[in-house]
Amino acid sequence: MAVTLEGKTALITGSGTAGGMGRSHAILMSERGADVIVHDINEDGANETAELVRANGQKASTLIADVRDVPDFTAKIKEAEAQHGKIDILVNNAGVTGNKLAMEDVDEAIFDQMFGVQVRGAFFATQAVLPGMKARNHGSIIMISSIYAMGGSDFASHYAAAKAALSGFTKAWAREFAAHKIRVNAVAPGFVLTGMTQGSNTPEMIAERGAGMPLGRLTTPEDISYAVAWLASAETEMITGQVISPNSGEVIVGY
Ligand SMILES: NC(=O)c1ccc[n+]([C@@H]2O[C@H](COP(=O)([O-])OP(=O)(O)OC[C@H]3O[C@@H](n4cnc5c(N)ncnc54)[C@H](O)[C@@H]3O)[C@@H](O)[C@H]2O)c1
Repeated sequence: MAVTLEGKTALITGSGTAGGMGRSHAILMSERGADVIVHDINEDGANETAELVRANGQKASTLIADVRDVPDFTAKIKEAEAQHGKIDILVNNAGVTGNKLAMEDVDEAIFDQMFGVQVRGAFFATQAVLPGMKARNHGSIIMISSIYAMGGSDFASHYAAAKAALSGFTKAWAREFAAHKIRVNAVAPGFVLTGMTQGSNTPEMIAERGAGMPLGRLTTPEDISYAVAWLASAETEMITGQVISPNSGEVIVGY
């Protein structure tokens, strides 16, 4: 069976940023036949992503919401589901950078933003798509975690912990939803060059990290999208509760 997503509808949170991974997932999934609900807080960026999906011959709509505003976000998910008729795939991708902050430098606002976007956002997006997936007895939910959830980090512990929460949801929900044929997996990227990482790393740091990778280069957004699209496909019908980490061999741990 080919890695096709024909006939599927995907909701991808945080997919409205140029050069970001969410947009890359939207492009690859639409190349493989999926319609896409493009979510972001940034309307112009979401519109651009939707145009790229349409250019691939697929239906696209935009969903503009701050994931921390749960009533607004989830009401708009229900509207988008009604408009498309279903949501088969949810990618919980929206996130904010940990900004390399030391533990003492994380105040309450920064902590709440991190857990509000990454953890609450993913929890309530999943809760919103669940009734439809259960009714159709089918679904693939993909959480975007991080190598920092797997191997720790000597900075940005609030980010590592929020990502570890997503891995926790992955394993618990895989069990909880399995009877409904809803699969839940996580993709835990290593360092990927996007706007998020460009802001907190100098070009020298980026070059050095790439040169030190066991597989010889940094992971790209497209590398992550291949894993995400595969987990969304029927080829992975028997995979649930797993964390897959495309990371150029930088972190190799069982988790
Ligand atoms: N870049 C990396 O090295 C790396 C590594 C591991 C994991 N990740 C994760 O991958 C995901 C994508 O990151 P990226 O590097 O492509 O960065 P990005 O900034 O391009 O993507 C994050 C998206 O989330 C959106 N977003 C942020 N706050 C939001 C909010 N309150 N409501 C709605 N949308 C909001 C942004 O507008 C943006 O489009 C994130 O979850 C990130 O934590 C990134």
